[in-house]
Amino acid sequence: MDIRDRVIVALDVPDVAQARSIVDTLGEEATFYKIGYELAFVGGLDFARDLVASGKKVFLDLKLHDIPNTIEKGVGQIARMGMTFLTVHAYPQTLAAAAKGAAGSSLGVLGVSVMTSMDDGDLARAGYGMGVQDLIARRARQIEEAGCRGIICSAVDIATVRRAVGESLAIVTPGIRPAGSALADQKRVMTPGEAIRAGVDNMVIGRPITGAADPKTAMRSILDEIASAS
Ligand code: C5P
Repeated sequence: MDIRDRVIVALDVPDVAQARSIVDTLGEEATFYKIGYELAFVGGLDFARDLVASGKKVFLDLKLHDIPNTIEKGVGQIARMGMTFLTVHAYPQTLAAAAKGAAGSSLGVLGVSVMTSMDDGDLARAGYGMGVQDLIARRARQIEEAGCRGIICSAVDIATVRRAVGESLAIVTPGIRPAGSALADQKRVMTPGEAIRAGVDNMVIGRPITGAADPKTAMRSILDEIASAS
């Protein structure tokens, strides 16, 4: 893997002009971008197409969940847009339908394991009969069974995922903070080097790059750290 593909830069900005300015600033240093809700609904989907046309990879973080027919058709459209990754919630029907929609394309479907905002008490209130770690392990197996590409999980859940499914899923992880950078609202973090050593395949990094005084230098030092940990 091109080492730059390991870092997915989160374009969490409110308009396309700001997103474009980040992409222009990072230039060749960054090859992979994530677009989520904030940008998607203000032109971010067209911008995603532009990024693909200019040779970048795009992760659409839309966390889809619906009946199988709707998921399959929607995911098929996203596959035809040339996207590289797409998130869906990790329910067996949704995973299977998404895998079908992406079949024959290069789109990788990623299952969201358990939202990191949920703890055991939140799961109980939502009606689940198991805690976070057991649900992550179960969902990792279900993502694998459905033939999806990978899993979104927190760095602290990597061991649980590897125990459940070995090396079969790509692990994509947010909550990465280079040593010395601001935590902001992230609580359980790993440095890029720690994440690589823990077995992360792609890390999603936003503010430590996009909010840096010099984003290009911030990106370069993250890539150097990854290179020396690989
Ligand atoms: O700016 P920062 O590096 O914290 O951005 C992390 C990205 O990963 C954001 O787009 C955020 O929504 C996403 N994310 C996260 N924690 C999760 C799931 C997604 O930070 N548990």
